[in-house]
Amino acid sequence: MYPSFQSPSFSSTCLAGRTVLITGGSGALGQVMVARLLAHGARVVNLDPCAFPLPLPPQLQSRLASVPVDITDEQAVTDFFQASCAVDGEPCAPDTVICHAGAVLPGAIESYTYADWKKTFELNLNAHFLVSRAAIPLLQRKATAEQPARILFTSSWVGQVPWPGNGAYSPSKAALDMFAKGLARELADRHIRVNILAPGIVGAGMALKQWNEDAQYQKRAKLAIPVGQLQSADSVAEATLFLCSRASDYMTGATLLVDGGASLYPMI
Ligand SMILES: NC(=O)c1ccc[n+]([C@@H]2O[C@H](COP(=O)([O-])OP(=O)(O)OC[C@H]3O[C@@H](n4cnc5c(N)ncnc54)[C@H](O)[C@@H]3O)[C@@H](O)[C@H]2O)c1
Repeated sequence: MYPSFQSPSFSSTCLAGRTVLITGGSGALGQVMVARLLAHGARVVNLDPCAFPLPLPPQLQSRLASVPVDITDEQAVTDFFQASCAVDGEPCAPDTVICHAGAVLPGAIESYTYADWKKTFELNLNAHFLVSRAAIPLLQRKATAEQPARILFTSSWVGQVPWPGNGAYSPSKAALDMFAKGLARELADRHIRVNILAPGIVGAGMALKQWNEDAQYQKRAKLAIPVGQLQSADSVAEATLFLCSRASDYMTGATLLVDGGASLYPMI
């Protein structure tokens, strides 16, 4: 008898029966990630103050719930999770949580305001502490040795490589990386996997905005990507699918770096 050559992890129904909660799912990368997860059978709950912008076919739309929660607000996060993540009165406890929302407030450190510093850390780090802390008891309910639950953090390649002019962004992502690794250790024996996705410079969202508005940024970014092209949002969505799939069951505390080799170069 030959073994099956078909991967059980990547069929179009590989996430059927799964509930994925994502923060920041309405953004440039988030909406593509959400669509990818829906297209592979997941139910998705999107916590984002902005409405979901992407028109979806009805069969996918019916599995998406959008809830306008500001994840920097401790009370709002607590209230949402204490209601067992109720959406329209229906419980929607997740088996997977993607802490994805983030922002960059660019600027050189010498002229950087303390307000921007705090705002960056509030969203890129503190909010993910609030969300993951609140989610652990719910994930625990779903997690088994055979079917682990998951927390995934969207970090960035610049969490480990300094990039001039991005103010608090790199330090906030570096702190997020260490938070995730500590959490991975704490939750490993409770069958909750915790991993990090570190994208590169994406031709969408915050990086595209900087690319379009800041000539210095664009010049530096062109030199910094060995494969010679901006990353697509699809590339980030594919890596997300992998980290949500059974194919990554044996990973925890790991960083999946998908950056076109950007982190190979010393900064120019
Ligand atoms: N675009 C890139 O090149 C790139 C590269 C590496 C990593 N990332 C990371 O990917 C993530 C998304 O980036 P993007 O480019 O899609 O950004 P984006 O600005 O397009 O999307 C961010 C989303 O987060 C939401 N958000 C903001 N504040 C929130 C809050 N308080 N509560 C809940 N949601 C909130 C916004 O409404 C928005 O929908 C970020 O964590 C970012 O650091 C982006």
